[in-house]
Amino acid sequence: VDKDGTRVFDLRMRPGHKEFVDGRTTDTWGFNGDHLGPTLRAQRGEKVRVRVHNGLDEASTVHWHGMHLPAKMDGGPHQMVAAGATWSPHWTVDQPAATLWYHPHPHGATERHVQRGLAGMFILDDPASDRLALPTRYGIDDIPLIVQDVSFDGAAFDHGRGPMQNVGFLGERTMVNGTLSPYRKVADERVRLRLLNASTARTYAFGFSDDRAFDLVGTDGGLLERPAAIERLQLSPGERAEIVVTMRPGERTVLRSYPQDNYGDAWQQRFNGGDDSFDVLQLRAADRLRPSPGTPAELGTPEVPDGTEAVKTRHFDLKRSGINGRAMAMDRVDEIVTRGTTEIWTVRNTNGMPHNFHVHDVQFRVLEVNGEAPSGALRGPKDTVFVPNGTTMKLALRFDGPADPNTPYMYHCHLLYHEDRGMMGQFVVV
Ligand code: C2O
Ligand code: CU
Ligand code: CU
Repeated sequence: VDKDGTRVFDLRMRPGHKEFVDGRTTDTWGFNGDHLGPTLRAQRGEKVRVRVHNGLDEASTVHWHGMHLPAKMDGGPHQMVAAGATWSPHWTVDQPAATLWYHPHPHGATERHVQRGLAGMFILDDPASDRLALPTRYGIDDIPLIVQDVSFDGAAFDHGRGPMQNVGFLGERTMVNGTLSPYRKVADERVRLRLLNASTARTYAFGFSDDRAFDLVGTDGGLLERPAAIERLQLSPGERAEIVVTMRPGERTVLRSYPQDNYGDAWQQRFNGGDDSFDVLQLRAADRLRPSPGTPAELGTPEVPDGTEAVKTRHFDLKRSGINGRAMAMDRVDEIVTRGTTEIWTVRNTNGMPHNFHVHDVQFRVLEVNGEAPSGALRGPKDTVFVPNGTTMKLALRFDGPADPNTPYMYHCHLLYHEDRGMMGQFVVV
């Protein structure tokens, strides 16, 4: 924290090496280290500044995924940081406690930069959720889990995409926080897992090997109104969820990803990952566990619009070739929204393959999925949502940041292969 009370972070993107298999290393990229990046953490109301240094030999950006902030600070494709340069965005945290993340966003190269290892978590806290009886000891009973899929050619990363893979790269195995075949010792009765799907194309359907129920307490943009006991949790690339898992002394359970029944037709299921399953993380409970309080029945009131004040409706048709029939163009603004207003966005996928939809700067409410009220993990604050083929999502978004007619925010498919090839558009708030 500097003299005027600003919390300052240093992030240095740099090349590195890491050993995953066989005592040999692969080339990686990381923030401040060889691979991935440190967890950043700030309080609601706090001023933050991040000094982003690019120590790579090519330009990149760092985007604060899920953060409500001025467009100039967003780290999208218009805020490129040249090789060797430093960029210092700053803003005031003005949103509820949440599990956000950061990653590069250079247009056309985001997939490659993330696959090399550039990703990290950005956790926000606020006084209201600090008072709740949820596990909060970072790394002890409050555990960040960055889930990514990966393949190797010998000891080196292999990011080749199979000929049938129209969603992008799909790895043969998963890693958590950059570790293959991970396990985690648990010494508390309840653990909170902050799950981030930081994979570039793969969607997971998380659950436990003994089909136990767990409490979903938060989604992308923060806590739910009340916890939901669920057994499966689907997260597409970019989405997050916070869950609380209850353990019994001495037991073992495995967080898995299961085949998905809403992923697409038989072709998509088979060749694009819908049928795949993975052991993601084993939890190993100690013989004696510290008691934890029960999950609170009420968690708060999510700050997302309900759509009743919407002044405008927009439609977004998702195609691999582009959104609403247009591929991303850096010099074209696609949508102009008025500051301080609420809008309804409908997002439709009839493209025969899975897509998702992410909007910068805001957290939205999912009002309807194919005309029905959403359930489970679609009921919390969201910035990214899975849109399988044959689905129309109706979203309510409120744009209350500062106006900046000259700097666009992005909306896009977060399957990074699709994003890089043009499934992205730009909006400005005026
Ligand atoms: Cu996580 Cu526009 O990105
Ligand atoms: Cu984003
Ligand atoms: Cu897509």
